[in-house]
Amino acid sequence: MNLKISSFAEYEQVYKQSVEQPEEFWAAIADNFQWKKKWDKVLDWNFTEPNVKWFDGAKLNITENCLDRHLDTLGDKPAIIWEPNDPNEDHRVLSYKQLHAKVCQFANVLKNNGVKKGDRICIYMPMLPELAIALLACARVGAIHSVVFGGFSAQSIADRINDATCSLVITADGGFRGAKDLPLKSVIDDALVQCQSVKRVIVLTRSRTPVAMIKGRDVWWEDEIKKVETQGNVDCPAEEMDAEDMMFILYTSGSTGKPKGVVHTCGGYMVYAGYTFANVFQYNPGEVYFCTADIGWITGHSYIVYGPLSQGATSLMFEGIPTYPDAGRFWDVVDKHKVNILYTAPTAIRSLMSFGDEPLKGKDLSSLTKLGSVGEPINEEAWHWYDEKIGKSNCPIVDTWWQTENGGILISPIAGVTPTKPGYATLPLPGVQPVLVDENGKEILGNGVSGNLCIKFPWPGIIRTTYGDHERCRQTYFATYPGMYFTGDGCLRDEDGYYRITGRVDDVLNVSGHRIGTAEVENAINMHATVVESAVVGYPHDIKGQGVYAFVVCPAKTDNEDLTRKDIMMTVQRIIGAIAKPDKIQFVSGLPKTRSGKIMRRILRKIAEGETSNLGDTSTLLDPGVVEEIKAGAL
Ligand code: PRX
Repeated sequence: MNLKISSFAEYEQVYKQSVEQPEEFWAAIADNFQWKKKWDKVLDWNFTEPNVKWFDGAKLNITENCLDRHLDTLGDKPAIIWEPNDPNEDHRVLSYKQLHAKVCQFANVLKNNGVKKGDRICIYMPMLPELAIALLACARVGAIHSVVFGGFSAQSIADRINDATCSLVITADGGFRGAKDLPLKSVIDDALVQCQSVKRVIVLTRSRTPVAMIKGRDVWWEDEIKKVETQGNVDCPAEEMDAEDMMFILYTSGSTGKPKGVVHTCGGYMVYAGYTFANVFQYNPGEVYFCTADIGWITGHSYIVYGPLSQGATSLMFEGIPTYPDAGRFWDVVDKHKVNILYTAPTAIRSLMSFGDEPLKGKDLSSLTKLGSVGEPINEEAWHWYDEKIGKSNCPIVDTWWQTENGGILISPIAGVTPTKPGYATLPLPGVQPVLVDENGKEILGNGVSGNLCIKFPWPGIIRTTYGDHERCRQTYFATYPGMYFTGDGCLRDEDGYYRITGRVDDVLNVSGHRIGTAEVENAINMHATVVESAVVGYPHDIKGQGVYAFVVCPAKTDNEDLTRKDIMMTVQRIIGAIAKPDKIQFVSGLPKTRSGKIMRRILRKIAEGETSNLGDTSTLLDPGVVEEIKAGAL
C-alpha cells in the first residue's frame, strides 16, 4: 500500500479499512519499510496493563531505513541542510552518503567508549547536524537515547540521567541561540556532580568556550573521530533490533511529580513516524522540508530526524531562533534554501505576526507549497495570517495534533488532500480512533459535541511504558477511562465531525508549545527558603499561548518584594530551567482551600484570567476572605 493518500475519497476508504482491518492495514504500511526479518504478529494489545506490541518478532534497525536503503538512489542528495544561528556563518549540507558515513563513524566512537545495545545515553546538544548524528549513532548500535532540551537546568538533567541510569553523555562545549551563548558543558558538569552512573562525556567543539575536561571522564568528539579514522573503522553494521526493543526515552511533564520518561520502541515508532511524515506532508522527492522545532522535543525526533530521513527527504535544521538577528530570519531561511514545506509552532507564528509586514518585505516565499502547525492550539487570527502572508492563500495548512506519547501525528489534515479549517486539527489519520468521553467515561456520540479526548485503539507509535515505572504509565494514561488511552486534552467535534483541540484539561500548561506541569513549578518555587506554599495556574498570553501565573505565600517578602520575586524566578530557573519561569508572581497571605485542604485551582485560574466577577461558589472554602484579598491584588 502506498504511504500517501491522494484524494478525499481515498482517505475515507483507507480510514474505513484501517478501523475494520487494522492488522492488514498496518502490515501493508509496514511493507514499505526495510526489515531484517518480518513480524510474526502485527498487533498484540490490551489497555489494562497496558501491554502493546506491534510487529512482534520482526527485526530491524531504523538507521538502515533512514540511511543505508537510500544510498543507491539518493546517495548524493542532501539529507540534512543546516542553517547556522549567525547568518554570516556558512551553512552546511550533508548528503545521504556523507550522513551515513558520519553516523557509522560516530557509532564506532560510541563502541570505542564502551557503549553496548540497551545502554542509556543522555544527549544535551545545540541544534547542529552532529545532534542528529548522535541520535542516529545511538540507534545504529542499539543504545537508547534520552535527549534533553538545551533550555533545561543542571538539576533537570541530573534527574533525567539518574532516572534512566545513563552511562554516557554527549554534549558540546557551548551553543548559540539568538544573541545568547549556552554554556552546555558547564551545565553538564554541574549536573554530573549528582550522577554516579555516567562514566564518559563526549564533548563536541562548537563555541570554543573554555571548558573543564575531567581526566578519565571527558573526551573530545573530534579526537575520538580521529581515533576511529586511524583504526580504519569506517563502516558500522547496524545492530539487529527486535521491533519491541526500546528505542528511546523522552521526558515529558504531567500533572503530578517529576517528568516521566516516555518510552518508544523500534518497529512501531519507525513505521508511524515515517508513514505520517510521508502522508501528512505529502512529501515529494526533492522537496526541501523545514521543521523549526528543536530535536530536544518529540517534534524534532519524529519530524526533523526519523520521519523525514526514513522517507529520503531533505530535512533543514536551523540552529537559531525566529527573531535573530531580526524578525525576518525564518523568511530569509525559506528564501535562501528554497523551502517547500514549513512546519512550525503557533507561538512562533504569533510572535512573528506581531512585527507586522515589514520583515516580510523583499523575501521570496514562492517556493512554499505546504505549511504545518504543531504544539498548541492555533488561534484563528494566527491561522489566517500564516495562510495569507506566508502561504499567499495557496498552501494548505496542516494543523497537526499529537503528543510526546504518540510518537507521531494523530489528528491532522493531509496536505492538499483533506480539507482544512482554521483552528481545527480536523480528522483522524488512518489507524487512529478518537473518542470523546464525559466526566464519567461515557462515550459521547454524534457531532456538535465536546468532551475529553481519548483514543480507543492502539496505533504503532503509542507509548509503551514510562521508564522504570510501568504503573505510572497505567495510572496516567490508561486508568482514568478504563480501556482507553486518555490524552489529557479537551476537544470539540463540530457538526461536520471535525476535531478542534481546546487545550489541556489537567494541571499541565502549554507555554510557547512547551509542556510544563504546574506541580513541578510549584515544587521548584517551594524550594525557595522563604516560600511557605504556592499554586501555579496558566492564563491566556498573546504570544506564548499560555503564561505561568504563580500565587505565592511568602511572609518574609515585605522587605523587598521585587528582589524576592527575582530570587524565586532564579530558583525556578535553577531547578527546572528558564522555560518554566513564572510570568507573574502574586504574593498572597493564603491560598483558597476547601475544608479538607485542597487548593481551589478553579478560582485561581479565573483570577489569573482576569475573570473575577463570577468565581462560582466560594462558600465551601475554609477562609472565603482570602479570595477577596487575592482578587484585589491580582496582577
Ligand atoms: O495539548 C496538546 C498540545 O500539546 C500537547 C502535547 O505536548 P507535547 O507532548 O509536548 O507534544 C507537542 C508536540 C507534538 C497536547 O496534549 N498540542 C499539540 N499539538 C496541538 C496541540 N494542541 C492543539 N493543536 C495542536 N495541533
